[in-house]
Amino acid sequence: MKPTDKTIEPINICFSSLFFHLNDMHNSQLLVFFTLFSAVKWVVGESGFCSENGYESNVIVTESIYHKVTNPTLSPIHLQDLPGFTRSVYREDHAVITPESHVFSPLPDWSNTMGAYLITPAMGSHFVMYLAKMQVLSRSALPSEDVERFLFVLQGTVTLTNVSGISQELLVDSYAYLPANFEHSVRCETSATLVVFERRYVNLRNLVPEQIVGSTAMQPLLDTPGEIFELRKLLPTSAAYDFNIHIMDFQPGEFLNVKEVHYNQHGLLLLEGQGIYRLGDNWYPVEAGDAIWMAPFVPQWYAALGKNRSRYLLYKDVNRNPL
Ligand SMILES: *[C@@H]1O[C@H](CO)[C@@H](O)[C@H](O)[C@H]1NC(C)=O
Ligand SMILES: *[C@@H]1O[C@H](CO)[C@@H](O)[C@H](O)[C@H]1NC(C)=O
Repeated sequence: MKPTDKTIEPINICFSSLFFHLNDMHNSQLLVFFTLFSAVKWVVGESGFCSENGYESNVIVTESIYHKVTNPTLSPIHLQDLPGFTRSVYREDHAVITPESHVFSPLPDWSNTMGAYLITPAMGSHFVMYLAKMQVLSRSALPSEDVERFLFVLQGTVTLTNVSGISQELLVDSYAYLPANFEHSVRCETSATLVVFERRYVNLRNLVPEQIVGSTAMQPLLDTPGEIFELRKLLPTSAAYDFNIHIMDFQPGEFLNVKEVHYNQHGLLLLEGQGIYRLGDNWYPVEAGDAIWMAPFVPQWYAALGKNRSRYLLYKDVNRNPL
């Protein structure tokens, strides 16, 4: 995927500008650059995944647009010393999973990758949603038989190689959909964080979904009659696909008009901003990095607050008869 200026991470900029300008630099400039280089290396070197919940609390590693998701506020400053405090909630028809309660462990069959499952069928969902933190020279495993996969890059760069042997680089904000039983691998040389959705594909007639690779910034804005938020869909809306991933943007003060209650399930990751999510009779303050599970028919509503836009990524099952 071609990066937009916004999605290039400063570390990459540092490295590439270093290599670009090496030839026409004076000694003093070289010194400055190598100092910068070591500083960057030091920061990268510090960014292991050894902290208890997989997050670095002090070191700011990158400034990609979804920086807050991989460098979340673990709890409000005035509550950080309070033992046992978490904003996470798990109810029968919804859950809010906040970063201080993420637990990472090695992803089965993947190499050098730590995963945190945020939504699984144990909650009642028909899909899984997890964060995958790929480390140096890491590699994905294939999903189980008949399971389709969607992945979205939150931080870093990965290389996707498919059954045709064609490789594509996926930067922050890029994504890929891999149909069930579609051979592929995702590799990472340094570090990358993905959010991944998987579910058992539901056949319809003889329709066959295809591999999709894209980036959010390249998707057109869609009409949202009666609503004010901006909507992009990352997958085709055609019947071959049994789910879609929506990217929804709200300016501060904007909110959902419809107080939705519907048969579809949702897995949500708040990528930017903050606001209030209503789930059933509960009203949750949420911010970038928070994940939400919404069971069918849970009343749901969002209002964006604060100074910056809210953006979230939303799984929704579509195109299949619920019976
Ligand atoms: C592999 O990826 C390339 C590039 O996206 C695509 O053109 C090709 O159709 C893919 N192969 C299959 C079998 O889908
Ligand atoms: C809001 O956006 C501004 C400018 O882009 C940025 O400096 C600030 O850190 C953001 N605030 C939050 C809470 O993300």
